[in-house]
Amino acid sequence: MNIKIVSKSAIILLAVFSFACGGGETTSENSNKSETTVVVKPVEEAPPVVSEPIIEEDQMEDLIDNKSSLTLSGEEKIGNSDCLSCHLVERKVVGPSFMEIAAEYKPSEENINKLASKVINGGAGVWGEAAMPPHATLSEEDAKDMVKYILSLYK
Ligand code: HEC
Repeated sequence: MNIKIVSKSAIILLAVFSFACGGGETTSENSNKSETTVVVKPVEEAPPVVSEPIIEEDQMEDLIDNKSSLTLSGEEKIGNSDCLSCHLVERKVVGPSFMEIAAEYKPSEENINKLASKVINGGAGVWGEAAMPPHATLSEEDAKDMVKYILSLYK
């Protein structure tokens, strides 16, 4: 049912856009550039309107933020952080492998909370001398998604 609305607004936007171009607007080039980068984001259902210059920049940021928190999995969040420089799925590097961690902890809410705050605050002493640095900029939600993914690797 969305298709009608989407194609309708696409037509309107197209019309506005070609009108702007026809009017000899030279300023539209810059805004086009910054908006095309948005399309590169790994979103599942990118609405066709995101590449149109009608959307304000701050609306655009909201759009990107919402999309990414909606679609990024724990695994992708790990890929976007520094975790993989110390952890591999199957082999111990600086930190324990994700498989080892998954074998150690049941995916209970208590364990997920505990490990998520360990990721955020850092720490040492459970697996050895090496310490995990804090990840203070991670939200609790992101840290929990990461931990859930790690614990889901248990076989
Ligand atoms: C600089 C290396 C390093 C980085 C980067 C790192 N870790 Fe760790 N991690 C460690 C070490 C070392 C340990 C073992 C700490 C211990 O023995 O208490 C560990 C332990 C863990 C544990 C188990 C904690 C426990 O108490 O059993 C989890 C879960 C974990 N890391 C997840 C992550 C996630 C998620 C990230 C990315 C946001 C990450 N780590 C980034 C080094 C790192």
